[in-house]
Amino acid sequence: MSKIEEILSRYREGSHENLIPILQDVQEFEGYLSENAIVSIGRFLHMSTTKIYGLATFYDRFRFIPEGRIHLRICNGTTCFINGSGGVAAAVKEVLGIEPGQTTRDGRFSYELTACMGGCNEGPVIYVNGKYSTHIRPDDIPEMIAKLKALPDLK
Ligand code: FES
Repeated sequence: MSKIEEILSRYREGSHENLIPILQDVQEFEGYLSENAIVSIGRFLHMSTTKIYGLATFYDRFRFIPEGRIHLRICNGTTCFINGSGGVAAAVKEVLGIEPGQTTRDGRFSYELTACMGGCNEGPVIYVNGKYSTHIRPDDIPEMIAKLKALPDLK
């Protein structure tokens, strides 16, 4: 039994109301929603893949492409937002040339805007490579990304 089949077996076949929990479980396992997974889910729930894509794209949290090898999480919680996370996110967008939820063509980078990470007094906060960076300013972003690009496993 594949992992996707195992996930589907936790739910009742044809139960449309379980679409979102199934998508969440699959994304948690795969890191994104692959085309194969969507087809399997469609078969299981007796729903067209078009309908599933239509519903899933309504929610920001679903991804349809894998994350980059480096994935940045930019806090967009209220306090970080007040302290300028919007400018930080705009700088990341400009440097990487992608929108939140997208992955660079070379597969190296992706980023997302997240809810509060619990470090409000030190925001804006970015979590990347297992580390929190605090008091981030838009001007810090080009150097931060240049350093990440220079990591040996990203060359
Ligand atoms: S709002 Fe960003 S850490 Fe709380």
